[in-house]
Amino acid sequence: MEQTESGAAPPTLGVGMVGYAFMGAAHSQGWRTAGRVFDLPLRPVLAAVAGRDATAVRAAAHRHGWAAAETDWRALIARDDVQLVDVCTPGDSHAEIAVAALEAGKHVLCEKPLANSVAEAETMAAAAEAAAARGQISMVGFNYRRVPALAYARRLVTDGRLGTLRHVRVSYLQDWLVDPTFPLTWRLEREHAGSGALGDLGAHAVDLAQYLTGELLVGVSALTETFVRERPLLPGAAPGGLSGLSGRDGLDGLDGLDGLDGGAVSEAYGQVTVDDAALFTGRLASGALASFEATRMAAGRKNALRLEINGERGSLAFDLERLNELSFHDHTEPAVSAGFRRILVTEPDHPYLEGWWPPGHGLGYEHTFAHQARDLVHAVASGVAPAPSFADGLQVQRVLAAVEDSARNNAVYTRVPVPVAVPAPVPVPDSVRDSASDSAPDSVPR
Ligand SMILES: NC(=O)c1ccc[n+]([C@@H]2O[C@H](COP(=O)([O-])OP(=O)(O)OC[C@H]3O[C@@H](n4cnc5c(N)ncnc54)[C@H](O)[C@@H]3O)[C@@H](O)[C@H]2O)c1
Repeated sequence: MEQTESGAAPPTLGVGMVGYAFMGAAHSQGWRTAGRVFDLPLRPVLAAVAGRDATAVRAAAHRHGWAAAETDWRALIARDDVQLVDVCTPGDSHAEIAVAALEAGKHVLCEKPLANSVAEAETMAAAAEAAAARGQISMVGFNYRRVPALAYARRLVTDGRLGTLRHVRVSYLQDWLVDPTFPLTWRLEREHAGSGALGDLGAHAVDLAQYLTGELLVGVSALTETFVRERPLLPGAAPGGLSGLSGRDGLDGLDGLDGLDGGAVSEAYGQVTVDDAALFTGRLASGALASFEATRMAAGRKNALRLEINGERGSLAFDLERLNELSFHDHTEPAVSAGFRRILVTEPDHPYLEGWWPPGHGLGYEHTFAHQARDLVHAVASGVAPAPSFADGLQVQRVLAAVEDSARNNAVYTRVPVPVAVPAPVPVPDSVRDSASDSAPDSVPR
């Protein structure tokens, strides 16, 4: 058991988690590990996990180290030993669970994207704001902010090492939908997922672009496409509706597909109602230009989240498939010797590295969840709101909605409503201003 400097065990923070498949496993790992690696002011206790199938949720509790299992998330929220609720379910249940938890006085961590619509995200952000006034903490699970190389990239930008920013380009490429016989899981249904590659991968890309630059996107121009419009139904699913199978307990794995090998999919087909790929350009508030690509159809690319930022004084580049490395070019150096150099982000002075291994002994995907748990525990203990907040998650949702609006309107430039405190957008050329005003919202929300 961890001890404070005085030798006493720190007070506990009881965590209750809803959903226990892919993200549930990753978050469990984070909660189990954070207090063993970092000195934390509170000791996370894995109090209870909730699912819907009693046998499956008990097995998950045993496997991932949770003390108790519940078959109703409302019962989990009501438990006295749960002070923080961790929402690891598909987007269609984020708003209901997170708002109920906040209203019950609990701190909340909610997976990304925050919600399936701007309206839901607004409700959640308002609930989080009201809860913050009561001392409660909320955060969205944009875990890639907690890759040490990306946290260090943010430090380079804020230290002015890139100077005035000109370009941000982010692509997030996966390939698990290339096979047209891949079945219709919840991630392919708008009703459950909100959108496709856009909300799944593009949400991370947008959050990172805004986090790393410290700026908001103020407008976008987008194309989306669904290449495979019908896919085999999962066993037991009725054509035209999969509600009963959304992330069904016992069928959950990385893609909700464990146990479906060997021709277990149905011969009946259902409609894919989300995008397979989304491409969009955007403007940041300062006038810098951004470009994004999100797809689950890039054969050979498994989890290739790549980004590059160019500024007046330098550039940086990153690839999640080599996540211990950051490429940095200092453009103020003499041209004869300047060039991109590889920074191995494993030094004790790099973000999050103080608790881990000696330099060069790299970290991986799972460690981002320990970093997320660490930061959240500190926020709960200090009462200082962590980032990304639900308001940040809402802002990402507004970008996703603008992307979909733009794509529906032949890629017309579409403004993103931004909070009033953000500097006014740079002027847009007359050629696009008229069409933009058609889709611009009447008023700018909070
Ligand atoms: N941060 C990341 O890197 C990352 C990666 C993958 C997924 N996600 C996000 O995490 C969330 C979950 O995705 P996943 O990949 O873990 O999905 P998954 O299908 O693997 O797991 C979903 C879990 O939620 C449970 N569930 C669904 N509806 C429920 C309900 N009403 N009540 C109780 N349990 C319910 C399912 O039984 C299952 O355990 C999504 O919002 C997704 O976008 C984030």
